[in-house]
Amino acid sequence: MRRRGRSKSEVEKVTGATIGVYDASFEVREGEIFVVIGLSGSGKSTLLRLLNRLIEPTEGEVYLHGEDVARMSSKQIREIRRRKIGMVFQHFGLLPNRSVLENVTFGLEIQGVPAAERRERGLRTLEFVGLEGQEGKRITELSGGMQQRVGLARALASGQEILLMDEPFSALDPLIRRDMQNLFLDIQGEVNRTVVFITHDLDEALRLGHRVAIMRDGEIVQIGDPEDILTRPADEYVERFIEDVDYAKVRVAESVMVEPREIAYDGEGPRVVLRRMRQAGMSTIYVVDRERRLRGLAEAEGVARLIERGESRLDGAVDLEAPRVGCGTPLREVLPLFVDRRGPVAVVDERGRLRGVIVRGALIAGLTAAPESEAGRPGRPGAEPVASPDGEVER
Ligand SMILES: Nc1ncnc2c1ncn2[C@@H]1O[C@H](COP(=O)(O)OP(=O)(O)OP(=O)(O)O)[C@@H](O)[C@H]1O
Ligand SMILES: [Mg+2]
Repeated sequence: MRRRGRSKSEVEKVTGATIGVYDASFEVREGEIFVVIGLSGSGKSTLLRLLNRLIEPTEGEVYLHGEDVARMSSKQIREIRRRKIGMVFQHFGLLPNRSVLENVTFGLEIQGVPAAERRERGLRTLEFVGLEGQEGKRITELSGGMQQRVGLARALASGQEILLMDEPFSALDPLIRRDMQNLFLDIQGEVNRTVVFITHDLDEALRLGHRVAIMRDGEIVQIGDPEDILTRPADEYVERFIEDVDYAKVRVAESVMVEPREIAYDGEGPRVVLRRMRQAGMSTIYVVDRERRLRGLAEAEGVARLIERGESRLDGAVDLEAPRVGCGTPLREVLPLFVDRRGPVAVVDERGRLRGVIVRGALIAGLTAAPESEAGRPGRPGAEPVASPDGEVER
């Protein structure tokens, strides 16, 4: 029915059956963090579980190094789960009656690694995630954030080259979550696993993902790098998703601009200006007229060339085309201006006077952080984790 153009909800109404995942084709590169994002119920967990066949696909292929996982015998697939594909579940999946170390080395135990080596590798991994000295504790004695790190350590200790992570950080409060994301990026930088990472949080996706796939109703509607997704949303759904989760649309240029450290006046001479730039450590400077109306941007090199040519006015070095936006320009429209350049963007008022500048770092921060006045605003999709029966590495 879906193939004949009926929607997921129509199919559900007529048959009572849910389309979990449909028409989801993608490739994950070696060493990549591939993020899958979508609203609750869009099929993310199902997609992930199809990769290691915790859910049997009804059709389609899943290739791992050229072998179709979807057609392997159950013995082969168990072997793959032990040696090649690790998984971190949406709700930790830790074993409460075992110690921290026993949890971390659980996968190694299943692989038949000898006890002494298990212990050594387990301790090393615990140190990696900042839990040294905690190995003898019981899981229930740890905070949520610590338990999360045990889950991460367990996945890392097993040494599988591929990690499937289903919203591993979603149960954490925002600050610990940020820490875990950074820790994960640090570790990933060293161990270089291939990761498929599920989240419903756009900030997390943009921060972690080399590439991001967006799911709707079981289908993948867009794949791109984070910049692509923000600047060229494939359709209205993606656009709405982005609007819902980030604050780019409501935040405007004014909210992230800073005072320019120094400015130059168009009547000034190049020697004076270059000296000022040197003292402030700036490679570019905004040039304004006496009413502080923006003329353009001058680069240190250009100014130095004027001096060599013995010119006494700055005009020849001013780039009149330098990008500028209004105080009320939404950040989403500012972002594309940074795609091909590293320099700042000027913010001008309705009379063209320079009010501030936006630098790349502040823009990204503005795109991914909630403005203070909006903190705690309700309605983030799928924010409430629901208890699930996940519990074991092996089924
Ligand atoms: N065991 C199941 N039996 C029947 N339908 C299911 C089952 N598991 C999931 N579904 C349905 O499949 C669809 C996709 O569910 P899935 O759990 O993959 O969503 P998700 O994107 O992971 O959501 P969340 O963000 O809430 O974890 C939903 O419509 C859900 O109702
Ligand atoms: Mg899920």
